[in-house]
Amino acid sequence: EGTPHPPQEEWSFSGPFGGFDRAQLQRGFKVYREVCASCHGLNRVAFRNLGEPGGPEFSEAQITALAAEYQITDGPGEDGEMFDRPGRPSDRFPPIYPNEQAAAAANGKAPPDLSLIAKARTYERGFPLFILDIFTQYQTQGPDYIHALLTGYTEPPQGFEVPAGTHYNAYFPGHVIAMAKPLSDGQVTYDDNAPATVDQYARDVTAFLMWAAEPHMEQRKRIGFQVMIFLIGFALLLYFTKKKIWHEVE
Ligand code: HEM
Repeated sequence: EGTPHPPQEEWSFSGPFGGFDRAQLQRGFKVYREVCASCHGLNRVAFRNLGEPGGPEFSEAQITALAAEYQITDGPGEDGEMFDRPGRPSDRFPPIYPNEQAAAAANGKAPPDLSLIAKARTYERGFPLFILDIFTQYQTQGPDYIHALLTGYTEPPQGFEVPAGTHYNAYFPGHVIAMAKPLSDGQVTYDDNAPATVDQYARDVTAFLMWAAEPHMEQRKRIGFQVMIFLIGFALLLYFTKKKIWHEVE
C-alpha cells in the first residue's frame, strides 16, 4: 500500500507574494530548540542569521545571549589542543553528535540535519500537477510533508507489523520510521497566545525550517517581482521602438 500525499496546507509563505510570519518563526525556533535539537542538528545556520531581516529577527541582545548558552569547540590553542568556549553570534549551531556513527547508535538511525530539510523533501505529484505547479507557484511540498509527518503518528492498520525500535507514521514513505512521535500537546510553552497543540507546534517548526532552508526567500520574491515588471516595461519599449524604426518599410 502506497503512502498518501500530504494535504496541501495554508502557509503565510506560499505563493509569489508570500512572506514569513515573524512571530511564527520565533515560536518555531522555540520548538526546534526545546524538542528537535536534542537529536537534529542545524549546522548551516549561524546564530547571527536569526537576527537578519526576513527571518525570525531576534534582537542583537537576544542572539548574543543565545549564542553564549552553547559551547563551541575552537582551536587549536597555544598548547596545540582544541578547547571549548561559549558561542558568539558568528558561530554556527554546534553538532549534536560527534559523528554519524554516534548519531545512528543513539537513535537506531542517524537523524538528518534539519538546515535544508524543508527543501530536501518533496513527494511525487504526478502528471499534470507537476506542470501546473509552476504556474500556481505551489512550492510548499516540503513544508506540507514535514507538517504531515509530525502530525502523522497514527495507529497502524490491522495486521501491519511495526518492527521493534521503529514507529508507524502515515506519511513517512514505507510507514516505518526510526523517529518516535516528537511532539505532544502542551509540551512547549508559548509567550504569545498561539495554541499549545501538536498541530500548531508542527506548523510553527515547519515554518522555521522553511526559513532555515531559504533565508532570503522574501528578498528573492521581491526582486523577482521587480524584474518581471521591468521586463514587461522593457518589452513594450522594444516593441514601440521597432514600430517606429521600421514604420516606412512594408
Ligand atoms: C527524521 C523532523 C524531533 C529523531 C526526521 C525527519 C524530519 C524530522 C523532517 C526526516 C524524515 C524523512 O527522512 O523524510 C523532526 C522535527 C522534530 C524532530 C521537526 C521536532 C519537532 C526528533 C527527536 C528525535 C528525532 C526529538 C530523537 C529522539 C529522528 C530520527 C530520524 C528523524 C532517528 C530518522 C528516521 C528514519 O529515517 O527512519 N525528523 N524531528 N527527531 N528524526 Fe526527527
